Amino acid sequence: MKNIIIINGPNLNLLGKREPEIYGAQSFEDFFETLKADFPQFKIDYFQSNIEGELIDKLHDVGFSYDGIILNAAAYTHTSVGIGDAVKGISSPVIEVHISNTYKREEFRHHSFISPNAKGVILGFGLKSYTLALQSFL
Ligand code: DQA
Repeated sequence: MKNIIIINGPNLNLLGKREPEIYGAQSFEDFFETLKADFPQFKIDYFQSNIEGELIDKLHDVGFSYDGIILNAAAYTHTSVGIGDAVKGISSPVIEVHISNTYKREEFRHHSFISPNAKGVILGFGLKSYTLALQSFL
């Protein structure tokens, strides 16, 4: 069975409450239950932090043993050389995901420190971006 982890960055703990016109009305915890049920062939873990260093520590913990990492680094996508370097330094494949289409939004969201070292990038499909990322590991 493949071991996959979803790692969510800052403010994604507020999904369902935060800017629902952009990020939707469902909490990630609810969505995660359906996701696990839809992909019984995977063991899927979930980690969320608002703290940059904790996200880097988690990438180090899982990045040499997991079969796949689905990373939504949220705002740190656009600012964090450290998370970008962590993605570069680990061996597990990382799929970068975003709920919104960041290219349709402010210019500062058009740059990603994750993308150059990600296996692939999926964005703009709402929470379904995570579903599509999981499908890529089938
Ligand atoms: C996001 C897009 C980022 O620009 C933003 O800072 C987020 C969420 C997304 O999933 O659409 O917090 O990563």
